[in-house]
Amino acid sequence: MRENPDRTAGDRHMTYKAPRGTRDVLPEESWKWQRVERVFRATADRFVYREIRLPVFEETELFARGIGDATDIVRKEMYTFTDRKGRSLTLRPEGTAGVVRSFIEHSMGRGSRLTKLYYFCPMFRYERPQAGRYRQFWQWGLEAIGSMNPAVDAEIIHFSVNLFESLGLAGAEARINSAGCPTCTPSYNELLRDRLAGSLDQFCADCQVRYERNPRRMFDCKNKHCLELLKDAPSILESLCDECTQHFASVQDLLSRMSVRFVVDTSMARGLDYYTKTVFEVHYAGLGAQSALCGGGRYDALVEELGGAATPACGVSSGVERLMTALEDTGVMAAREPGPSVYVASLGSDAALAAATVIAELRKSVSVETDYQGRSLKAQMKEAGKLGAGHVVIIGEDEVARGVAVVKNMTTGEQDEVGVEKVAALLVERLASAGGGT
Ligand code: HAM
Repeated sequence: MRENPDRTAGDRHMTYKAPRGTRDVLPEESWKWQRVERVFRATADRFVYREIRLPVFEETELFARGIGDATDIVRKEMYTFTDRKGRSLTLRPEGTAGVVRSFIEHSMGRGSRLTKLYYFCPMFRYERPQAGRYRQFWQWGLEAIGSMNPAVDAEIIHFSVNLFESLGLAGAEARINSAGCPTCTPSYNELLRDRLAGSLDQFCADCQVRYERNPRRMFDCKNKHCLELLKDAPSILESLCDECTQHFASVQDLLSRMSVRFVVDTSMARGLDYYTKTVFEVHYAGLGAQSALCGGGRYDALVEELGGAATPACGVSSGVERLMTALEDTGVMAAREPGPSVYVASLGSDAALAAATVIAELRKSVSVETDYQGRSLKAQMKEAGKLGAGHVVIIGEDEVARGVAVVKNMTTGEQDEVGVEKVAALLVERLASAGGGT
């Protein structure tokens, strides 16, 4: 077993930290994630996509063939390991290849229906960690498999923008481009090679490899100097075949009719090789260098490439950590975590027994917190306020002796004394009529 390079010799007796490029989502934050996931699932329901849950690892070959040998993901970023039987497996760096593998394996394409799937799960890429870039990150994604119709591309772009808007994120911008198809990309590749041949020696070593293997991958370079050299490179839009030109025009027409704001960005390069025709990203400027909230497009050749019948498809995936940062940046997520509906405060062992009955009854339908540290009633009231509880039930020594409890509405400050056996029913009724209760 090799030593962890992030540890030095003196570190050996230190406690452990989350591996480089990974992070814990603590309870202070996880409620925000739950909200994003809830809104995402509700949006997927409205657009009628159904969930697929896939293995965390797949055969390495699936990603090498699906994503492309010349991509950074396959060349440098995969977490690949050999299992005890010598199989080469890889932690999924993205979701599309696995979805397509599953689509083929389970013959989902039977009949003429479009298969519309979604996922919300972690991905793994060995990238240099920085703001908005992790080695384990979460993606929500959609894949619609089985149609050439440009309306599917428009639906997926609409979904992405609509989701960001539903979450309260204004100012996200959709950028669209076309990646062409096998009819038009060979001539574009030749045109690019011709135009770049004179300056090839000024590009980085990676770009020189990309030039040979797939010159369009050069747009994917993270080196500023290379991107500067590419500034005057010809746009693919000028080389598109009639079918791709028509498809791209239809997508734009549909987006305009759906009032989805977008710009055409001919410099946009996607980091995966499977794209054909429409490609798009939605960016949020406040995120700095890693500003892409989501990216996707059409991949009409992938199903066949991975062993299925020729089937056109289109999809999108989005980095959830980046989305969280954008939401926090705009203040949308600054709101306080919702508190429990009820806090039950009690003092003394008899009161604690009476409280246990009330709590058990309430927890059939509402969220309840209580004290197990033996704190004073004053400290418990303070805790209830800090947690943001909607109501507090107070059972002190005096109350338990008289068989009552005090019910306090923390918003209005009003309080009533109620027979202890009636507390739960009263609160459930009040919370229901106020539309609350969790
Ligand atoms: P991708 O552009 O590689 O596309 O990733 C999609 C999104 O995942 C990015 O826009 C970004 O928000 C997020 N992301 C990517 N890498 C990282 C990282 N290291 N840390 C944090 N977030 C990251 C795909 O994965 C394709 N499967 C999209 C697709 C689906 N195309 C068709 N269907």
